[in-house]
Amino acid sequence: MAVSKLGFSLVFSFIIYVTFASAGSGSYNVQSYGAKPDGKTDSTKAFVGAWAAACASTAPATIYVPAGRFLVGSVTFGGQTCKNNAISFQMDGTLVAPSDYNNVVGKSGNWIKFEKVTGVSISGGTLDGQGTALWACKNSAKNCPQGATTLAFYNSNNVVISGLSSQNSQMFHILIDRCHNAKLQEVKISAPGNSPNTDGIHVQSSSAVTILNSHIGTGDDCISIGPGNSNLWIENIACGPGHGISIGSLGKEEQEGGVQNVTVKTATFTGTQNGLRIKTWAKPSNGFVKNVVFQHAVMSDVQNPIIIDQNYCPNHQNCPHQSSGVKISDIKYEDIHGTSATEVAMKFDCSNREPCSDITLDDVNLMYKDHPAQASCSNAGGTSSGLVTPASCL
Ligand SMILES: *[C@@H]1O[C@H](CO)[C@@H](O)[C@H](O)[C@H]1NC(C)=O
Repeated sequence: MAVSKLGFSLVFSFIIYVTFASAGSGSYNVQSYGAKPDGKTDSTKAFVGAWAAACASTAPATIYVPAGRFLVGSVTFGGQTCKNNAISFQMDGTLVAPSDYNNVVGKSGNWIKFEKVTGVSISGGTLDGQGTALWACKNSAKNCPQGATTLAFYNSNNVVISGLSSQNSQMFHILIDRCHNAKLQEVKISAPGNSPNTDGIHVQSSSAVTILNSHIGTGDDCISIGPGNSNLWIENIACGPGHGISIGSLGKEEQEGGVQNVTVKTATFTGTQNGLRIKTWAKPSNGFVKNVVFQHAVMSDVQNPIIIDQNYCPNHQNCPHQSSGVKISDIKYEDIHGTSATEVAMKFDCSNREPCSDITLDDVNLMYKDHPAQASCSNAGGTSSGLVTPASCL
């Protein structure tokens, strides 16, 4: 009798424990909201339902995406009314975009969009943008839709993305726009080298964004840093194929936020169009770039390993014979080694209205076909120290 009483109360306490534990951790499995891991059933509503529940929870909440492929259309996760500041997506599975790109594009230009969220994290999982059909359209015809960004965060704080894979995005893979404090790590981005506009990670109007330990191979910039960014830290990135790590394009608008305090540390570039680039439109702007460190980069067969291009004017439209108003200053290149795929490995093509100033080169060694590459400078001032090959033209 005593034993069965004990047994009963143990079982009873266990039930109470489980009930409280699950309420406390707030776990929401998308399959409980009707998602199907078959890659065919539209699971959009299930994801929206799981988000609504997680967002309404007063305790930290986890949205669980089990293994399998979940077809999801354009979806917005809004955080304005959430009752907690800790919603985490634990992903074992893959989210698949509709292969008919008009389906996604029609709505917002974003596939998976977060807006005004605080404390959202995404761990693991894969996002498959199914961009192949759209790229084929863009590569062969005009009047194709622009396409959707795979994963976008707008006006958000304290975002963490870790161990996420994004493949075959229609447009940008990941966008961080008007955010403060975002950390992206162990991210894996892949799309073919000829897929148009598939930037890996684009950051704009944001501060305190850190991108670490990530592999990015795509058809456009691996990482692009737009106007209005400060305090960016980018470290341990493998880039290629792609267009490199780029600050810009900047200066498209006459009134524009500047870019300052950016560190790019330990990066490898393999077969990319650019390595470390700063790019501005050749037209009036109050934009600027200052306090940038490019450190410990290895170039392997890169067309423009080091480049500042202030004469960007695609198709020579809307910027005829103008100079860039973007002022570039205090840019450091330290320990940049490897091979260039073209003769000119270091090019500073600065604005004649706002010449580049305080560029410093320290320990640069770039070869072209087993001999030192060349450098070219216009309107660029600065200093060099240590061994610098090609010899500085600053
Ligand atoms: C520059 O940015 C880093 C983060 O990348 C930050 O730790 C540091 O405080 C910033 N420096 C200034 C002067 O704001």
